[in-house]
Amino acid sequence: MINNIESERPRQCLTIGRIAPDFTAMTTEGPITLSQYRGKWVLLFSHPGDFTPVCTSEFIAFAQLQPEFEKRNVQLLGVSIDSNPAHIGWLYDIYLMTGIIMPFPLIADRDANVAELYGMVNPDRIYEQSVRDVFFIDPNQRIRAILAYPATNGRNMYELLRLIDALQVSTTYGVSTPANWMPGDPVIVPVANTLEEAIERGTSSDDLTCFAWWYCFTDLSELTPLPNP
Ligand code: BEZ
Repeated sequence: MINNIESERPRQCLTIGRIAPDFTAMTTEGPITLSQYRGKWVLLFSHPGDFTPVCTSEFIAFAQLQPEFEKRNVQLLGVSIDSNPAHIGWLYDIYLMTGIIMPFPLIADRDANVAELYGMVNPDRIYEQSVRDVFFIDPNQRIRAILAYPATNGRNMYELLRLIDALQVSTTYGVSTPANWMPGDPVIVPVANTLEEAIERGTSSDDLTCFAWWYCFTDLSELTPLPNP
């Protein structure tokens, strides 16, 4: 039997498709529980530490784009292993520098409970720092996408918004989105399921553009939402 500190906490390998582990934590807006956001999309994102320049630029960028996240029914939730007083001090400095009152809660994960649950702590634990992870959690609290960036490089908020748009389109219409897709671009329809359907796709149609029976695009305006996305 392995008998060391590492073995005392079960290490999860969280993947896309799993239910996001629930947790309760203290934040800069008081205690929260992840499941209270059921019915909304949640972006749970970690940062390495308070009072650091890249993280500061990211929080300012998140705050500036908060109305865009809100439009998409997205709740932003920041997390790091700093204390709540440290978070408050840092967000207060950001307020003094920019006038921005951070419009979303920042989780104080002092005991690394959330970081452990979501595998955010660097396995080599050299700095005991979480990296820049982003978990895209859907309104049923299922993990739909995971991004990881290193401490040295800030995330692109427009890519986070673009991926939210793509996930929401896929969920609502049952379609996929191609490389470099942007809202308004054609989407990829599911592959034909029968030979008859495949042959139909070989002939031209007003609403489908097919390059092969398995490679067809359409405009979103041609589609109706799925009954129970
Ligand atoms: C930063 O946010 O600037 C940062 C944080 C941790 C390590 C390196 C950079």
